[in-house]
Amino acid sequence: MGYVGLPLALRFAEVGYPVIGFDIDPAKVEVLNAGRTYIGHISSESVSVARTRGFQASSDFSRAADVDGLIICVPTPLSAQREPDLSFVLGTMESLAPHLRPGQVISLESTTYPGTTEEELKPRIESRGLAVGRDIFLCFSPEREDPGNSRYAIKSIPKICGGTTAACLEVGLALYGQVIDTLVPVSSTRVAEMTKLLENIHRAVNVGLVNEMKIICDRMDIDIHEVIRGAATKPFGFVPYWPGPGLGGHCIPIDPFYLAWKARKYGVHARFIELAGEVNRAMPAWVVGKVVEALAGRSKAISGSRCLVLGIAYKKNVADMRESPAVELMELLVAQGAKVEYSDPHVPVFPRIRGHHFDLRSVELTPANIAAYDFLLLATNHDAFDYDEIQRHARLVVDTRGVYAGSSPNVVSA
Ligand SMILES: NC(=O)c1ccc[n+]([C@@H]2O[C@H](COP(=O)([O-])OP(=O)(O)OC[C@H]3O[C@@H](n4cnc5c(N)ncnc54)[C@H](O)[C@@H]3O)[C@@H](O)[C@H]2O)c1
Repeated sequence: MGYVGLPLALRFAEVGYPVIGFDIDPAKVEVLNAGRTYIGHISSESVSVARTRGFQASSDFSRAADVDGLIICVPTPLSAQREPDLSFVLGTMESLAPHLRPGQVISLESTTYPGTTEEELKPRIESRGLAVGRDIFLCFSPEREDPGNSRYAIKSIPKICGGTTAACLEVGLALYGQVIDTLVPVSSTRVAEMTKLLENIHRAVNVGLVNEMKIICDRMDIDIHEVIRGAATKPFGFVPYWPGPGLGGHCIPIDPFYLAWKARKYGVHARFIELAGEVNRAMPAWVVGKVVEALAGRSKAISGSRCLVLGIAYKKNVADMRESPAVELMELLVAQGAKVEYSDPHVPVFPRIRGHHFDLRSVELTPANIAAYDFLLLATNHDAFDYDEIQRHARLVVDTRGVYAGSSPNVVSA
């Protein structure tokens, strides 16, 4: 019942299916059963309407025997060694296995390396004496979501689906055909797994490219945003990607390394993936270098300076803090002796994030507050910010998002 599973469950409920939303987190189960949401961009109303249509959340995995379709949308993070951590996927499979019965379809949606469905899920199902393709139908169908983008709903985003056998694919298409307008069948689960990775690697590599271009442009005193806007007028062969303070979110900083890891097993070094990772991971430190430079230009030291970070969610107009580069920016600034606070209309209290600690609440952006800081570091360009007011009252704005076009004495691009 996370960012992927909850909206999908609500969509199945919307078209009339009684849905059980399984989660090991009792707090989520309780909130959802009370007809409320815990995700910013999903309304409580949509959960309470689904509740009246038979949607319920549960931590009781024995109820998996009651359902015809099981869709797995659990996290696939990286381990401390930056290797795939399949423990959630495998844990889910272990919980479900005793309750499987003939006639069910199982679909994995978690992003993972090619081969996971066949190598990890299929044997665990078959060890229960159930034949995949005859008793149980097994698919991989990756989720595609753009948090905060209201132009697309689950229903209207074409969905890739691959099956272990032709029968598995047929059943998978029948399942998703109930809720998705356009299905894209592919020849195997491995192709489906690789398709999702290509989509995310394409983004990671192109963001790495524009981040490198930003550093070059900065040295040459050229505005990278103006350059990209210019290039984007080309009606073919160019797709704009925008630089920033580093990669964020649950997918783009992580998923490419699932493939890099698997490619190594085949003796291939995924150079583009590693290089893009290197460039993107270096961005927060580069931004902090620009802050130090901008302060030095005003005869100020970073140590002892007061800083307000604007926007700490990983992208604009969402509350999602996962892998947000703003957290690393804040830690780097603190390490240099700055006193750091933040303002984010979507994140009223700094959340608990493993390995990171800030006991902070969002600062209100009044003219007096804006003027009180030595510099404001614009990390995430939420639409809710009043950028004119910020520029009017700030002593210095360090802009990592290209919001302030053109030169202004109190704005520095980073
Ligand atoms: N968030 C996105 O925009 C997005 C988009 C495409 C793909 N994905 C992929 O989808 C997968 C899920 O991502 P997410 O953003 O929904 O993660 P999430 O952390 O929001 O949700 C995962 C949920 O699974 C639950 N969970 C963990 N172990 C479980 C278990 N054994 N049984 C039942 N529930 C369990 C967690 O409590 C959590 O509620 C990941 O592989 C991710 O890469 C995410």
